[in-house]
Amino acid sequence: MLKDVFGRPLKDLRISVTDRCNFRCPYCMPAEIYGIRYRFLPKEQVLTFEEITRLARIFVGLGVNKIRLTGGEPLLRNNLEELIVQLARIEEVDDLTLTTNGYLLAQKAQALKEAGLQRVTVSLDSMDDEIFGRMNGRGYGTQRVLEGIHKAGEVGLGPIKINVVVQRGVNENTIVDLARYFKKLGHIVRFIEYMDVGNLNGWRMDQVFSADEIIETISREIQLEPLERNYKGEVALRYGYKNGGGEVGVIASVTKPFCGDCTRVRLSTDGKVYTCLFSSEGYDLKGPLRAGATDEELRSSIVGIWSRRADRYSEERASLTVKPPRKVEMYHIGG
Ligand code: GTP
Ligand code: 5AD
Ligand code: SF4
Ligand code: SF4
Repeated sequence: MLKDVFGRPLKDLRISVTDRCNFRCPYCMPAEIYGIRYRFLPKEQVLTFEEITRLARIFVGLGVNKIRLTGGEPLLRNNLEELIVQLARIEEVDDLTLTTNGYLLAQKAQALKEAGLQRVTVSLDSMDDEIFGRMNGRGYGTQRVLEGIHKAGEVGLGPIKINVVVQRGVNENTIVDLARYFKKLGHIVRFIEYMDVGNLNGWRMDQVFSADEIIETISREIQLEPLERNYKGEVALRYGYKNGGGEVGVIASVTKPFCGDCTRVRLSTDGKVYTCLFSSEGYDLKGPLRAGATDEELRSSIVGIWSRRADRYSEERASLTVKPPRKVEMYHIGG
């Protein structure tokens, strides 16, 4: 089995299908920078579905059994269902899923399901329209996203997970109502510690509302008990509601990093491989792919990349004495 420098296998492929987004979350794609003049990738730089599928098959041949589509906002990619059909045909893929902001989900859920998508994870940072509007940078209320989640449930795209980035002073007061609302619906909310990804959000440690604080806040209202993780390398720490029914998770990337079990590789919209969420550089596969490389050649490039991988940024963060070099932006690789 292919392993990296620390013995971590390659299991989880996350594919960004577009760098565009219809939201402007200030922690990811601040509106001041990503205005109408911002140039997103031109079409010719974007991997085609055939190219993505070809690479995905090679990754699967090296151990990947879980594929997540991300963006930007993946539902902005035209005819995404066609890609899903192609990926769903790869036999060894046990889990085919997608992370979306939910804005276009109500209208697309049925087609995604029919194409072979198994489940969705929807980002929603607050139940409060005003706070949510600020956190999506567009002033959008929660209604469309909630309709999207509802539709996804109806067509069978579950188990549905809801991702919530928690920022101190912004939305930490609205986590209990999120937990309550989705407990009733039977969906799993996962609260994510605000991370220093990218270079634009001006991240500061004092803006992190820690996993411990999150659990403490919820426990004051609804009793919780820790649960075993579902699989090695799961990013969320799970907690069950003591009064029966359902669970929540916390993703403690900052205060309890989980690099030791990190089996994730990321493929950007323009065909670069990133071996960490905090990488400065990706390894270009589009160039060789379009220059006529064979599957075997592409495969051996990936083997080389993974076997030299020594990333453990989140574990090193605390001890870093110099500011890290420029990091990849989250919307290039989808989180
Ligand atoms: P499941 O397959 O449902 O368990 O979800 P997942 O583990 O793939 O989690 P998901 O993709 O929903 O990730 C949730 C969030 O956790 C991401 O948006 C990131 O913010 C964070 N996250 C995921 N993977 C990593 C990682 O490798 N490193 C760090 N530091 N954070 C990560
Ligand atoms: N810290 C934590 N999570 C983040 N996301 C985007 N930027 C950050 C950040 N700085 C989350 C999004 C979405 C997922 C793709 O990543 O909210 O849930
Ligand atoms: Fe778009 Fe997701 Fe980034 Fe928000 S976090 S701007 S929804 S890609
Ligand atoms: Fe994996 Fe990098 Fe995240 Fe650590 S910081 S868990 S190595 S992606």
